This record gives sequence, structure tokens and C-alpha cells, in this order.
Amino acid sequence: MASVTLNQLTKEFKEVVAVDKLNLEIHDKEFLVLVGPSGCGKTTALRMVAGLEESTSGEIRIGDRVVNDVSPKDRDIAMVFQNYALYPHMSVYDNMSFGLRLKRLPSGKPWPFNTVRAFDKAEIDKRVQEAARLLSLETLLQRKPKQLSGGQRQRVALGRAIVREPKVFLMDEPLSNLDAKLRVQTRAELIKLHRRLEITTIYVTHDQVEAMTMGDRIAVMNHGLMQQCDTPLNLYHHPANIFVAGFIGSPAMNFVTVTLSGEGDKVFADSGSFRVQLPATQAAAVKSHIGQECTFGIRPEDIYDKSLEGLVKPTPGNTITVGVDVLEPLGSDVEMHITSGEHNLIAKIDSKTQAKVGENIDVVLDLDKAHLFDPKTEQALT
Ligand SMILES: Nc1ncnc2c1ncn2[C@@H]1O[C@H](COP(=O)(O)OP(=O)(O)O)[C@@H](O)[C@H]1O
Ligand SMILES: [Mg+2]
Repeated sequence: MASVTLNQLTKEFKEVVAVDKLNLEIHDKEFLVLVGPSGCGKTTALRMVAGLEESTSGEIRIGDRVVNDVSPKDRDIAMVFQNYALYPHMSVYDNMSFGLRLKRLPSGKPWPFNTVRAFDKAEIDKRVQEAARLLSLETLLQRKPKQLSGGQRQRVALGRAIVREPKVFLMDEPLSNLDAKLRVQTRAELIKLHRRLEITTIYVTHDQVEAMTMGDRIAVMNHGLMQQCDTPLNLYHHPANIFVAGFIGSPAMNFVTVTLSGEGDKVFADSGSFRVQLPATQAAAVKSHIGQECTFGIRPEDIYDKSLEGLVKPTPGNTITVGVDVLEPLGSDVEMHITSGEHNLIAKIDSKTQAKVGENIDVVLDLDKAHLFDPKTEQALT
């Protein structure tokens, strides 16, 4: 078992800074998800931890050991890739045991007797059988990869990593080749597996839903830079900046440029087409920005149809009139595209709504859940 510590880790490819001074501590036994849009540096970061990519600067520690100059095979890590190439001519059993059969240790004797097998047959068999049981592959051990489904092949790739009993698992979008249903299923299996094995894991994905459902903590990256690292719910409720606010949650948070104005103790956010009164705690936090422009953020699920019994009591300060543009029924909810002046927003409304396309309706904003950002620094103000 081990923690992984990245200290100012940087990778430059000529003019591209793929990973920029990344600081991150992954705790022992933790399942940490590294998430961000394509090209933000996730794979590069993971490959540096694995030792497959040399860092330009910064330090990588696994446990207490600095591993920058340790070769990949001696880092005690196992990596599962998106393209988990299995050997097509080998059985599942052989694919899983291959790495163990190959592994050799120094013997202390002169060449060509200078190494010995690291694992004997019995030990290899024990590990393969155990991994096969964990992954429900016991009955498939003699099959060839082409006789397996995509999900089963993915489990073999995991098995190959598990038998090595590494200190750290590195997984780079391991589910992205699976269809949607299988992905959800395998996601749950991976979490159960992690709970049983308790091996420190860094899991890379571009999919925020996968990140939210799997991570003990989530590290959000953009353009090679760490944006925020926290628990899924803290990221959702307290995004540190506009990027994280817009990246976490689906449909994404609505953003509207507003001007803050004060009247006595009250603070209003004015977008031109609507004007809402900020709750006391937010009003206090943005006092120094009165008279300035701010980015106001509200999630689709925090907007309610006023004519339905909602969680939030309608008041003049939290109610706005909007036009209904598009209705996308999803079953329990309707995704409603609404307009307020020149602003387009999305609201996730209870499907009991009677609203029709082309109508104007009143919606209630749960302003306690709204966010305000500095439009220049993009950092959260509240
Ligand atoms: N070997 C390479 N040579 C040059 N640029 C690279 C190389 N590998 C990655 N990059 C660049 O580094 C950035 C980060 O890439 P990557 O780590 O693969 O992102 P992600 O995994 O988040 O999609 C991208 O701009 C990519 O084009
Ligand atoms: Mg990648």
C-alpha cells in the first residue's frame, strides 16, 4: 500500500506545456479520479507516474520513495489502458499470468545465471485463480480473447494488472471502449473491486459522470493546470472557479453576466432582463463588488416552475419570467430551454409541468444554491 505525491510535476513537449506544476497527494488506499477535457494533460500526468514519460521538472513519490529515476518495472505500479491490447493467441489464463512468468529477480550469480524467476508456478496459479474469482472469469480462463465480449476482455486486462499485486493502480479511460450499459456496470464492479483490494488508484477519465460516481476525490484539470481537487459533492456545491462549475454537473450550470447593485443591506444581481435579490450570506460575500459586473451561476436543477409545489418558496426576489423555447422530456424531469432577454438558460423541471413551448412562465431560482464569480479571474466569490 502506498500514497502517491506529485510535487510541481511538469511536462513540456516543445512549445506545449502538457502538465503545468501539478501538485497532488493521493492518499493510501484512495480512489482518485483525474478528470478534464481531452488534451488537458491527464494521460501525460499518468504516464509520468508510471515512468513511461520523463518529467521535465518536479517530483513523483510513491510512498516515501522518490521514483523519478526508478524504471517503470520497479515502481510497483500496474497500468490499465484504454486500448488494453491482449495477446490474441494466448488464453485468458496465459494473458493474465504472462507478466508474472516473465518477471525475474537478480540472483547474485554471474551471467547467464544472474537472474531467477520471481514467481513459481504455484504462486502464479494462486494469483491468477484469485483474480479470476474477483472478476468472475473462472469459467473463461481457457478461452482466447476473440471468444470474449468487450466487457470480459476489459476484465482480463484488469486481471492482468491485479495479479501483479501492485502498490498503485493507474487506469487511463479503461471503460471508454465499452458500450454505455456495460460501462455503467463495469464502473460499479471497479468500485467494488477497489473496496475489496484497497489498492491506491489513480483513474483518468474525461467523463464527469464517471468521475462523480467513482472518485473518493476528484482532481479537475484544464490546460495542464490543476483547477480543484475535492470530494464529488464539494466540487458540485463549492466549485472554485467557472471552469469547474461548468464542467461538473449535467446539464451544465447556467452562467449570466450580471451587475451587482446595493440598496441598504440588500444586494441585487441585475442581468438587464431579470433582477434577483441575493440571500444574506452571498450579499455579504460580494459587498466589495457592488457596482461591478459578476458572473452569476445557477444549476438547471435549482430552477423550479413556480406553478408547481417546489422546494423553494417564491418571493419577488427569486422569481423571474422566462420564455419557454424547447422542452426535452426525460421521464421524471423535463429539460426546459428558457430565455430571459438575450440570455438562454436550461432548467430541469418536474415533468408535472404544464408549460408549453412559446409560452411565458414564472420560474423560481433557489438562490441559496447560486454562485457568483469574478468575471476576470473566474474565481468564485461566494
Ligand atoms: N508525445 C507528445 N508530443 C507532443 N505533444 C504531446 C505528446 N503527448 C501529448 N501531447 C500534447 O500534450 C497535451 C496533453 O495531452 P494528453 O496528456 O494526452 O491529454 P489527455 O489525456 O488529457 O487527453 C495535448 O496538447 C497533446 O497534444
Ligand atoms: Mg488521454
